[in-house]
Amino acid sequence: MYDNNPTINNISKKLDPAKQGQVFADNRLSNDNLKKFYIESYGCAMNFSDSEIVASILSDNGFGSTTSIDDADLILINTCSIREKAEVNVRQRLSVFNRIKKTKPGLMVGVLGCMAERLKSKFLEEEKIVDLVIGPDAYRDLPNLLNGLEGGQKGVNVLLSREETYADISPLRLGSNGITAFISIMRGCDNMCSFCVVPFTRGRERSRDTFSIIAEAQDLFDQGFKEVTLLGQNVDSYKWENPDTKEVVSFAELLIRVANVNPLLRVRFSTSHPKDITDDVMYAIRDYNNICNYIHLPVQSGNSRILKLMNRTYDREWYISKIDRIREIIPECAISSDIITGFCSETEEEHQDTLSVIDYAGYVMSYMFYYSERPGTLAARKYTDDIPLEVKKRRLTDVIRLQSQISFESNKRDLGKTFEVLIEGDSKKSTENFKGRTSEFKMVVFLKQPNLKPGDYVNVKIDDCTTGTLKGHIV
Ligand code: 5AD
Ligand code: SF4
Repeated sequence: MYDNNPTINNISKKLDPAKQGQVFADNRLSNDNLKKFYIESYGCAMNFSDSEIVASILSDNGFGSTTSIDDADLILINTCSIREKAEVNVRQRLSVFNRIKKTKPGLMVGVLGCMAERLKSKFLEEEKIVDLVIGPDAYRDLPNLLNGLEGGQKGVNVLLSREETYADISPLRLGSNGITAFISIMRGCDNMCSFCVVPFTRGRERSRDTFSIIAEAQDLFDQGFKEVTLLGQNVDSYKWENPDTKEVVSFAELLIRVANVNPLLRVRFSTSHPKDITDDVMYAIRDYNNICNYIHLPVQSGNSRILKLMNRTYDREWYISKIDRIREIIPECAISSDIITGFCSETEEEHQDTLSVIDYAGYVMSYMFYYSERPGTLAARKYTDDIPLEVKKRRLTDVIRLQSQISFESNKRDLGKTFEVLIEGDSKKSTENFKGRTSEFKMVVFLKQPNLKPGDYVNVKIDDCTTGTLKGHIV
């Protein structure tokens, strides 16, 4: 669920203006005299979800929101550390904020998220314009730190927590299309994949209270939302014990409970780990029409030696057996992946193993990256980042080319088929067309009909396709 192209302002860019009207109708945000915050988010869906928690905390503490950076009294940037490029992007944005701050004394700038956690108070030395540095588990402290700023003190809180899940905070859906929403079900990660900085920036894994998750799903449905994506770094290890009954809720059980909120509420989830996904999760997908036929199951590499160096705790055969199991239980299920090319010491032959696993799995799509060494990770400490950049990039091109072919083939197989599509809004290219997704997460574009609106389900027959999109007509 990481965005390959992370320069997204989750408030201003992605919004359908009609939906912005809905968002700003929220009475917590409607007072023009309030101080205003502006927030930009980078990186994974979890960061976007966290920004909604931050927005909620701020609006409960006397702030209004703005999508115009020039109107802001407080600029927040929710950052990503997953690859070096993500951090470079953030630094560039900070230099833009710096120029604004010069013309607007009193403007406050805060850095949130993984980069705040990774660099801690060093941020204040490196980037003089930054007033606040707040890690992913410290957002409740934001009002307190803002108070301190008024006394001229810069604020830092990067404490990680073993308990914080923000379960009681109702996210403010600022960047929303009003139809699809994220629900965070757990935080942190205990996996320690050797390339990954997340366990260091987001701390230990903890699961959120099941009841608060169901209540959030119900509330979203009552507001007109039709699809929720349950979010966590490793959703299959979700585990919550009811303190009263001692009953333990597994991820499969949670999925079913969310699906039972209403058959018209679609349920998705991300991300699954091949070592933890269970048959019960697959049975839940098979048995509940509203649990979508889609599993994001990152392989990272198709070679067992590299997987061992990556500390993924499975090998090629194990991964393939999971793909086989999914195909056996839910033949129509779409699978997608994350792939890293040019990890430490990867040979050409081992790279070929990655290509062959992509071919075997037949992913509908993948998020593909070349390896970027991150300070402090196991790989940075133990292995040499020895694959030249041009080789990493060439291997990435091989992977992208193959994945595009496979995605295109998969889309071509859908020609002539009819899918149930949840309408999300106008298509990017034309207001005459709607866009929406199939259960398999494929984007479909089709001509509008006057009686239909976003949030409706409609059957669409596929007539044409590109690598990334299906095109069809309502039947
Ligand atoms: N370099 C490149 N890609 C990485 N990812 C995580 N860490 C790195 C890194 N250091 C990728 C993995 C992960 C996805 C979220 O980002 O593929 O699944
Ligand atoms: Fe990083 Fe691995 Fe955890 Fe994913 S499962 S967040 S790749 S350590």
